Amino acid sequence: MPGPILIFDSGVGGLSVVPSLRSRLPGVALTYACDNAMLPYGTRPSAWLVERILAVCEAAVIASGASVLVVACNTASTLALDALRARLSVPVVGTVPAIKPAAALSRSRHIGLLATSATVSRPYTDRLIEAFAADCRVTRVAGDPLVTLAERLLAGEAPELAAVQAVTAPLWVAEDLDTVVLGCTHFPLLDQWIAAAAPRPIQLVDSSDAIARRTQDISRGLALSHGRDLSLATAPDARLVRALTRFAFEEPRPLVVG
Ligand code: DGL
Repeated sequence: MPGPILIFDSGVGGLSVVPSLRSRLPGVALTYACDNAMLPYGTRPSAWLVERILAVCEAAVIASGASVLVVACNTASTLALDALRARLSVPVVGTVPAIKPAAALSRSRHIGLLATSATVSRPYTDRLIEAFAADCRVTRVAGDPLVTLAERLLAGEAPELAAVQAVTAPLWVAEDLDTVVLGCTHFPLLDQWIAAAAPRPIQLVDSSDAIARRTQDISRGLALSHGRDLSLATAPDARLVRALTRFAFEEPRPLVVG
């Protein structure tokens, strides 16, 4: 049976990947699923998170009849990709911090990683840095408050620049840092504010096009449906409706997690 591409995140962050997916896979039906009842993921304990991510993704795959799952969340992917692949029968595309492209772009060899507290300290992240940025200095900054600011932005409330400056300040201490990895899918939604908070021009790198490319490759052999873009949420509310309709998704149906 042809099914949609299912995009999963804790909240609205995965919407930052949607334009790239639509441009690489035009007309393919998308279903957006989020676990906004449990937002934010980035400050939660790993063992709890793995169980929760497995349960929510399994429920969302069943409810949507998806042909492929895109985990549009670094916090979930750096922890639970192997477990998801073992549990689910559909192919799973993950999202991990764009350390490799950032290291390729940096001239000064000093890059920043702005992500959730969970992602900045994960062994998966250590391995990415060792493999792709061993010759770089990497300044890791936990930017959890930006998750809330991005959620508010899509609900219609623009952030104060000072709030973004307060979170990102540790990135700008060393003057040679020239590239920042946005290692949380919520953060590209705030890219204008992050760029404005920087005291000098900085290259901001995220994973959205890489995820869309990988999804396109994986999708070649799959039966995909075309048509309406639907959404599912563990706690549908008016703010989420506003965010999802901005990205042309229909109003969320409740996602019941067993
Ligand atoms: N959007 C998620 C990520 O990419 C995390 C947000 C959260 O902390 O829930 O890491």
